[in-house]
Amino acid sequence: MHLISMSDLTLEEIEALIEDAGRLKAERGSQRLRDDLKGKVLGLIFEKPSTRTRVSFEVAMLELGGHAIYLNWNDLQLGRGERIKDTARVLSSYLSAVMIRAFRHETVVEFAAHASIPVINGLTNLEHPCQTLADLLTIKERKGRLSGLKLAWIGDGNNVCNSLLLGAATVGMSVSVACPEGYEPPASILERARALAEKRGAEIKIVREPADAAKDADVLYTDVWVSMGDEAERERRLKAFQRYQINERLLGIAKSDAIVMHCMPANVGEEITEEVMEGEHSAIYEQAENRLHAQKALLLKLLSP
Ligand code: CP
Ligand code: NVA
Repeated sequence: MHLISMSDLTLEEIEALIEDAGRLKAERGSQRLRDDLKGKVLGLIFEKPSTRTRVSFEVAMLELGGHAIYLNWNDLQLGRGERIKDTARVLSSYLSAVMIRAFRHETVVEFAAHASIPVINGLTNLEHPCQTLADLLTIKERKGRLSGLKLAWIGDGNNVCNSLLLGAATVGMSVSVACPEGYEPPASILERARALAEKRGAEIKIVREPADAAKDADVLYTDVWVSMGDEAERERRLKAFQRYQINERLLGIAKSDAIVMHCMPANVGEEITEEVMEGEHSAIYEQAENRLHAQKALLLKLLSP
């Protein structure tokens, strides 16, 4: 089994992963080192930078008794043009699983098509499913439930937004995306998310005004205005997203017990203010920590016998 898109997971699978992650988190104080994945090796291929994804996967493998190998794209023959297909076949004969962070989503899809081991999407231009697993765990911890909640996405309809839309829709959470015209999530994602949401009585909306999304929201979520790979559009994006910031004023429109989320890294002063990031509503640092626990649950699902 692979995890390429958040929609690869059923409601039951998401619920089981969140439960396992919560258990692993609670146990970690007394039982940090386990041996479930003894002898298993995870390859981590990065075509873009990373702090959280790299370190949480490496530590997850270590604490589960396995091993991780960091593979920078440009240090592999991939950087000199070796075919993805050939790399996938060769690495499948050495490794137990591979996580890939790539620019193009198609790279991960193609890799998985030729791999005989599980492939995990560690972020592409289209999706970031590992982030969504940690986010759903965080929301469940803070709110005690997922179904029936309302999440407001403020800003770019990007990779993090796309996976969150699919994950939220699957668990029955409504999402309002407030974004400028031209920065909506792709139609293919919206269509899939809406079909999933409908089955669970949830709603997916696109609005222009951050305040319209934030009204009565249980969760406010934002991400950078300029994602990795979008740097050439920085000036245009800074102008387009000026109003799409989570600040005290926007927080005041949400429910009084709303939580604030951000996948990090954050550009403080752009999409979020320091006050909100450090404020009592912020669940941002827990989200980052939860990457570790959620990915441990995922690795156990994909790799334990
Ligand atoms: N949120 C996230 O994936 O962070 P990194 O880019 O640091 O891995
Ligand atoms: N949308 C951001 C997320 C980083 C974890 C990016 O793709 O750069």
